[in-house]
Amino acid sequence: MYQQIASAYFPSQVFFGFGSIASLSNILGSRRSRNNLLVTDAAVADTQFGQEVRQLLESHSDQFFLVLAPPGEPTRAQIETLHQQVEGLPCSHIIALGGGSSIDAAKLLAVLSGSPLTLDDLLGGNVQISGKLPLTAIPTTAGTGSEATPNAIVTLPERQVKQGIVHPYLVPDYVVLDPDATRTLPKHVAASTGIDALAHVMECFLSRKANPVSDTFAARGISLVFSSLLRAYNDPDDQEARSSMLLASFMGGSAIASSGTTAVHALAYPLGGRFNIPHGLANALLLAPVCFFNQDAMMPRLKEIDRMLASGGDDTPVLERLTLLVRSLNIPSRLRQLEIPEEALVSLARDAAAITRLLDNNPKPIGEADILGIYESIW
Ligand SMILES: [Fe+2]
Repeated sequence: MYQQIASAYFPSQVFFGFGSIASLSNILGSRRSRNNLLVTDAAVADTQFGQEVRQLLESHSDQFFLVLAPPGEPTRAQIETLHQQVEGLPCSHIIALGGGSSIDAAKLLAVLSGSPLTLDDLLGGNVQISGKLPLTAIPTTAGTGSEATPNAIVTLPERQVKQGIVHPYLVPDYVVLDPDATRTLPKHVAASTGIDALAHVMECFLSRKANPVSDTFAARGISLVFSSLLRAYNDPDDQEARSSMLLASFMGGSAIASSGTTAVHALAYPLGGRFNIPHGLANALLLAPVCFFNQDAMMPRLKEIDRMLASGGDDTPVLERLTLLVRSLNIPSRLRQLEIPEEALVSLARDAAAITRLLDNNPKPIGEADILGIYESIW
C-alpha cells in the first residue's frame, strides 16, 4: 500500500537513441535567442563526442560561451567562481554536457544567472526563485540521473559535508540521451556510476515515498541494470548494454523526482564529504549492506522484484544478485581499502544520522547505532 500523496517532475522533452545528439539543433533552433552557454569539464570537452557537441553549438549560436566545470563533485567555492564567470554574459540557454557534477553545476547556474539570489541563499533553503534560464542536459555517464531530478549536490569542505539543494526549477527542460556519449567512459566509472543508478531505482522502489509513478520507472530501471550493467562494463562496444544503462540512469533520476532515496544515500554522503569518496563508489559500498539491514521490513517489495527479475528465467533472489554484481564489477567492498580509519566511523555515523531528509524515507527505522553497525560491518 502506498503511504503518501506523491508528486512528480519531468523534463519537457527527452530525446533518446544513438545519434540523438543531432536533436540538439532542433532544441537550439526552437529558441528565440541563440546565445548559448556550454558547461562541461575538460576531459569530456576533449572527447570526440564533446567536440561534436561544441561544433554543433558553435554553428547554431549567435554567441557561444564555454565554461569548464571542476572534474569532481562541485564545492560551494567552485560554483561561486563559475557564477562569477557567467554573470553578465548575455546567454539565454545553458547546455550541460558531462556527468552529475557538470549537470548539477549547470542547474545551479541556470537558477543563479541574472538572479539576485546567491548560492548561500539556495543552500539556506526556503527562498523564492522567480525564474531560470532554459537548460538542456546531455549526460555522459550512466549513473547519476541528474538530468531528470530536481536536485543539485554541493560539497561544503569547511563542514566536510555534501548538501542537496532541491527545487522544481532544477529539473532540466530538455534532455538528450545519446549512448554515443558514454562510449569513452572509464571502466571503473561505468561500474560505480552504474551501481549508483541501481541504488536510485532500488531505493526509490523500496522507499516510504514509493508511488505508482516512481514504481514504473524504478521497476523498469532495476530490470535494465541487472540485464545490462555487467555487459556494458565488460564490453564498451556492447551498444545495446550501454544504451540500456543510459536509459536506466534516466529512469533512476525520474524515480527520484517522485519518490526519494533512502539510507543508502544517507550513509554514502558523509564518505564523500569527509573522505572525498566519489558518490557512485560510496553507494556501491553501501547498497547491499543497507538492503540486508532493511530486508525484514521490505520482504513483500523484494519479492515483487524477485518475480520481475525471474521472468527473465533466472530465479536468484535480488539481494544475492546484487552482491554478485558488485563483486563482478571489481568495486572495493571495504572502507579500509579506501584508507578510511576505523576511528572515523563514529563521527561518520553521527553525520549520516543527521541526514533525516533521506533517512525518513527508509523502509525501516534506522538510528545512529544501526548506522555505526553498518559502517563497522564494511570496514
Ligand atoms: Fe546517487
